[in-house]
Order: sequence, then C-alpha cells, then structure tokens
Amino acid sequence: MQKPASRLWRFLRLSCRVFALLLVVGVLAGVVAYWRSSNDCPEVGKAEPADAINTWIYCEYGSPDVLRLARLPRPALKDSQVLVRLRATSINAGDWHMLRGEPIIARFAMGLRKPSSTRLGSDFSGVVEAVGSAVTRFSPGDSVWGATSAAFADRVVLRESRVLPKPANITFEQAAAVPVAALTALQGLRNEGLVHAGHHVLVNGASGGVGTFTVQIAKELGATVTGVCSTRNVDLVRSLGADRVIDYTRDDFASDSQRYDVVIDNVGNRSLSDLRRVLKPGGRVVLIGAGSGRWFSSIPRLLTVMARQKLGDQGTRFFIAEVNEPDLAQLNSWMAAGKVTPAIDRTFPFSELPQAIRYVEEGARAKVVVTLEETSPPPAP
Ligand SMILES: NC(=O)c1ccc[n+]([C@@H]2O[C@H](COP(=O)([O-])OP(=O)(O)OC[C@H]3O[C@@H](n4cnc5c(N)ncnc54)[C@H](OP(=O)(O)O)[C@@H]3O)[C@@H](O)[C@H]2O)c1
Repeated sequence: MQKPASRLWRFLRLSCRVFALLLVVGVLAGVVAYWRSSNDCPEVGKAEPADAINTWIYCEYGSPDVLRLARLPRPALKDSQVLVRLRATSINAGDWHMLRGEPIIARFAMGLRKPSSTRLGSDFSGVVEAVGSAVTRFSPGDSVWGATSAAFADRVVLRESRVLPKPANITFEQAAAVPVAALTALQGLRNEGLVHAGHHVLVNGASGGVGTFTVQIAKELGATVTGVCSTRNVDLVRSLGADRVIDYTRDDFASDSQRYDVVIDNVGNRSLSDLRRVLKPGGRVVLIGAGSGRWFSSIPRLLTVMARQKLGDQGTRFFIAEVNEPDLAQLNSWMAAGKVTPAIDRTFPFSELPQAIRYVEEGARAKVVVTLEETSPPPAP
C-alpha cells in the first residue's frame, strides 16, 4: 500500500507538469497571436476611389509622429445611416492611450503587435451630406454632432441614433468637445455616484476634459461641488460653477476635514484609502481616470474594484462610459438651455491633428478641438 506522503508527492509532481505544459502552450499561443496580429494598413493607398474619405490612420503603436493622412474608401450608406461632413472633432485621453498602445496589457484587446483598428477619434460635429432611405430625423444640410468611431476623418458614416441636432447657441467646436467627456461625466455622477440635489461632490481632476463637464453637470444635478486642480486652472474651475476649489499644489483634500457624499476621481493618482477617507458614511467613490503607468496603469486596481462591485460592495465604483441616445439627448437639452457649456483650451487645424494629440498628452486643460474647413477638406499627401 502507498504511503500518504508518496501519494502527495506524485500529486504535486503531476500538478507541476500540467502547469508547465499549460505555461508552454500559453506562451506559444501568445507568440503566434503576436505575430499574426495585423491590420488593414497594407490595403491603404491601393484603392483611390473618387469618393474617398480623408482620414488619419496609424499602422504601428507609437507617438503622434506615427499618424499619417490616408484616403480610404467611404463605407456604403445603409438605410438607417447618415453621412456627415465634419466641421470639428476633439481629442480624448483614450485616443493617445490607443495610439501608444498603453497600458501595454491592454494590447490583448487592442492588437498585440499592431493596432487591430487603425482609426481613432470618437467625437464629431458637422453637416449632414446624405441620408439613408429609412432616416427620418435628418436631411442634408442639417448641423449635427454625435459620437462614433473613426472620427479623425473629414467624413463619417453612422447610425441616425448616434446623431443629434446641434443647438444654435453652440458652435461646431463646442459641440465636438462634448460626446465622450460629457457622457463619462454624466454617467459617473448619475449612474455610479447616484448624485442628487443636496449632495456634496468632490471632483479630483476638475480641470480636464471630463472634469470640466463633471463640475457643470454636478451643479446641474443640484450638488455642492468642490473641484481639485492645479494653480493655473483654479479660475477656470471656479468659472464653471465649483463652490470651492482646492489647488493640489498647496493643499491636500485627503487631509482636509470636509467630508463628501460622492468623490469622482478623474485622475487615478490617489490610493483608494485616501479617496474613501473623505467620504461621509454610505458615500461613494467613482473611479474614472486610469492613472499612469506604461505596462499596467491602474488596471489591477480597477479589476479588483469591479470584482468587489460584483460581490456587492457598492462604495467604490468603476465603469466604462457608453454612448446611448437618451444621455446624448440629455446633454443636448442642457446645452440648448445654456446649462452646460463646453470649455475649450485650444483648437488645431485638421492638418495638425498629431500636434493636438501631443498637446493633450502633455497636459492641456478642458477640451482640445480639431477643426475642418467648411468646404475644402485637406488633400491626402
Ligand atoms: N472610465 C471611462 O469610461 C473613461 C472615459 C473617458 C476618460 N476616462 C479617463 O479619465 C481620465 C481623465 O480624462 P480627461 O479627458 O479628463 O483627461 P485630461 O483632459 O488629460 O485631464 C486630466 C486632468 O487631471 C488633472 N490632474 C493631473 N494631476 C493631478 C493631480 N495630482 N491632482 C488633481 N488633478 C490632477 C489635470 O489638471 P491640472 O492640469 O490642473 O493638473 C488635468 O486637467 C483619463 O485617465 C481617461 O483615460 C475614462
């Protein structure tokens, strides 16, 4: 009869072999997936249709220098779609993360060796050029804004439900600043923070693209708002309606005696315990910013928070903003009523879109917008 110790030894040996086998298979699968990962760049320039779209593409991960203008065939217009000629688009932090392929762990989703999608940009405003046969809300010539993918181009084709009529009191530049940043702010405050009138909200990173909308929307929801930003942006954050502004170069909100119902973190530079320390009992922390870090950024922290959310911990929330029609309509009506006004730091012409991305990466304030001429899109080189 075998001794229990020798049975344990055999079990451990077998487990090690299975683990080693899985490791080898995993590494081999990773190497194959790495070398097979590709994109449509080899096709670029082969087709030169008269009706091509001028678009910025990137074939490799890297700095804004890897971006180049290309002409791609325009997708056929489906019944429920509209074709919009852009007047403006805006840069989001996600654009330069995708351009650089960082955090690197995210390349499992974005393309291991090369970006699987070569197009960037989400936000746009412009003029409807053509509509599909089932489109009822728009006609050629309408001024619109909305959210799509591949918006760093002179034209986009997208579903009617992702397009809004541009309010007359809002410029094309302002409208293009809205989609991703304002949707994130709205969903973070309302869906995750459950912010309502009378709440006291702290916004860490109040002067950025998301932060400038967070301050305004929190005020619109009836909250008292404290914004955190650097010295140069204190006046901006106050002008957006913040009741109190903390200059993080001088004061630390985490050692302050003030307590909040909701903390919105657009930066990701503070520990969860720092963020939770300033909560009132039953308060919520909403994580929006991913933080810095080339390989992993805050992803392990965000996955932990998501797992805890699933297990019933409602005190710390993380979410990915989604584009949906009711929220776009809500933002449109706030803009039309003058209750939310996009704040713009700087505009760049379409030909300088890589410089605009670099400018955001280096630390812009509010939104950075890229504009296109009304009638003459820049030719591809
Ligand atoms: N979860 C989602 O669905 C989602 C959606 C959109 C964006 N995001 C993420 O949200 C984050 C913010 O996006 P964004 O577009 O607002 O970026 P952004 O425009 O670059 O703004 C970042 C802001 O962080 C502020 N900041 C930097 N260091 C700070 C510090 N120590 N304390 C307080 N504030 C500090 C900066 O303000 P100062 O210049 O005043 O220092 C800047 O205004 C990014 O990480 C982005 O990836 C997440």
